[in-house]
Amino acid sequence: MRSHYCGQVTAAHIDESVSLYGWAHRRRDHGGVIFIDLRDREGLVQVVCDPDRAETFRTAERVRSEFCLRVRGLVRRRPEGTINPNLATGEIEVLAHELEVLNPSATPPFQLDEENLSENVRLAQRVIDLRRPQMQQNLLLRHRVAMAARRYFDERGFIDIETPILTRSTPEGARDYLVPSRLYPGHFYALPQSPQLFKQMLMVAGFDRYYQITKCFRDEDLRADRQPEFTQIDVETSFLDEAEIRAIMEGMVRTVFGEAAGVALPDPFPVLTYAEAMRDFGSDKPDLRIPLKLTELTDLMKSVDFKVFRAAAELGDGRVAALRIPGGGTSMTRKEIDDCAAFVGIYGAKGLAYIKVNDASKPGEAGLRSPIVKFLREDVLRAILERTGARDGDLVFFGADRAKVVNDALGALRVKLGHEKGHVEAGWRPAWVVDFPMFEWDEEARRWGAMHHPFTAPKDGHEDLLEAAPGRALAKAYDVTLNGWEIGGGSVRIHRADVQSKVFGALGIGPEEARAKFGFLLDALQFGAPPHGGIAFGLDRIVAMMAGAESIRDVIAFPKTQRGQCLLTQAPSPAEERQLRELHLRVREPGKV
Ligand code: AMO
Ligand code: AMP
Repeated sequence: MRSHYCGQVTAAHIDESVSLYGWAHRRRDHGGVIFIDLRDREGLVQVVCDPDRAETFRTAERVRSEFCLRVRGLVRRRPEGTINPNLATGEIEVLAHELEVLNPSATPPFQLDEENLSENVRLAQRVIDLRRPQMQQNLLLRHRVAMAARRYFDERGFIDIETPILTRSTPEGARDYLVPSRLYPGHFYALPQSPQLFKQMLMVAGFDRYYQITKCFRDEDLRADRQPEFTQIDVETSFLDEAEIRAIMEGMVRTVFGEAAGVALPDPFPVLTYAEAMRDFGSDKPDLRIPLKLTELTDLMKSVDFKVFRAAAELGDGRVAALRIPGGGTSMTRKEIDDCAAFVGIYGAKGLAYIKVNDASKPGEAGLRSPIVKFLREDVLRAILERTGARDGDLVFFGADRAKVVNDALGALRVKLGHEKGHVEAGWRPAWVVDFPMFEWDEEARRWGAMHHPFTAPKDGHEDLLEAAPGRALAKAYDVTLNGWEIGGGSVRIHRADVQSKVFGALGIGPEEARAKFGFLLDALQFGAPPHGGIAFGLDRIVAMMAGAESIRDVIAFPKTQRGQCLLTQAPSPAEERQLRELHLRVREPGKV
């Protein structure tokens, strides 16, 4: 029987006999004495094999990287000068009395401590990759986060109820994964994009407080913070208003960060409206560690001669805004400024005007360096300096376009330069973003789409806007953001069938389509549905942030690549003709209609 995990043997165990199991992380032959760093999920311990025990020593000579071993031995203090303060077990070593090779190992495809491994190699050899201490820590952390969340909800009367994986389409705005039915030719199950409709029906059924840690499936373009299957901490409650729901949910985030990561998040979380977030940060998931803010200039630019600015200011949905980079006038080269212009181009910006402030007391061509100063009156320049708070040595960037383009461009530039120019404060900065619009205009489809999902309730008093002015209707929807990541999102739901119909109407979903797609929900709403609401958190994102990982792939045991493949199992893979036949399917040749 194991007496300890390798990583948990410390000076407190000196003179004790211990029994350990693990893998040979490293073996060093020091002319006469052999050292083996034995590794398990809790860490490393140094095992010493000396020639006095001939059999043990002979076995040690055979050991190579990643052999699976059993060791029994005596814990002793390391000699002076060999103590390793960076290791939990660094004060001690284990003198081997018995050493058994439980299983030798083929030469591993890479050294576990090799740096700069390509991610494709790691994913193809995931089993070995998962042995790396960092990956072991990440998955242990993920376990602690999930357990802390479960404890939190359990203590507050939330019950864990499973919802189906083979189901009908649940609208969260992504493409569905479909599963063909064998028994019903031409019919398909959809994998859930979230348990949204089921958790609402559980509220109608009277379960009152529900949570589940569950997989969701979305066939969308992948990025560092997105996977085709990912895990939500999904929650729903009845009889609480928006503020009460938010209080319980942020309590969970605080508890989990405290228990799993030892991080004390603020109490309460600051609350920003969507409009404030867009105005100040150009983003609905602002990284509040960066103190830079956008400055509103739209009103000021309605009266200028410079056509680029005036035209944008006069658009119904236009915006002119500035971003001041402290010290940027002296620190940023011409090339860096040009690179910024190319960068905002990605977001659709047609240019990136700027002013370098040499002497703010001379708001004209004498004090300002810029291709646009000659187009702007002195009183306008003075107002720009005043509103942005620009001082000598600063650089001010300008965006002028439709508000969406300006927000996307300057919002992203703020984050980029915030990081590159050292304007990022340390620590954890969560915030709620609330009062989202109900709808956003889909330019391609030429119609309104739900900003959160079609079951989100409008703000009190905004019911009439649903039909009269959909663009102005606000929702009881809220997101939790942390350091520039959206870690959760939810809303108070519509619990009355008449309001639900109005929202479907605004979305261009007619009564027949609504009945065909969501008839079961509409029916449920007719039987005394309670007021209810909830949220879902991205577990992968929360753990990735805590672990300091660059991608959520580093906190998922067996993730997919950016191209949606599992390099370990080679999924997706072709199906056999026999299976296709059973499913009533024939594969079209790619490219042919
Ligand atoms: P939403 O779509 O905002 O809401 O998702 C909730 C949270 O899930 C995480 N997330 C993802 N994580 C990894 N990969 C993905 N592809 C991915 N997509 C989303 C994010 C996000 O904040 N049913 C609603 C919740 C509700 O209203 O209660 C929903 O799914 O962290
Ligand atoms: P132009 O008159 O087109 O040469 O533009 C003059 C300056 O304004 C250049 O520095 C451009 O990069 C900048 N500019 C052009 N269009 C925009 C825009 N939509 N938003 C911000 N700056 C712009």
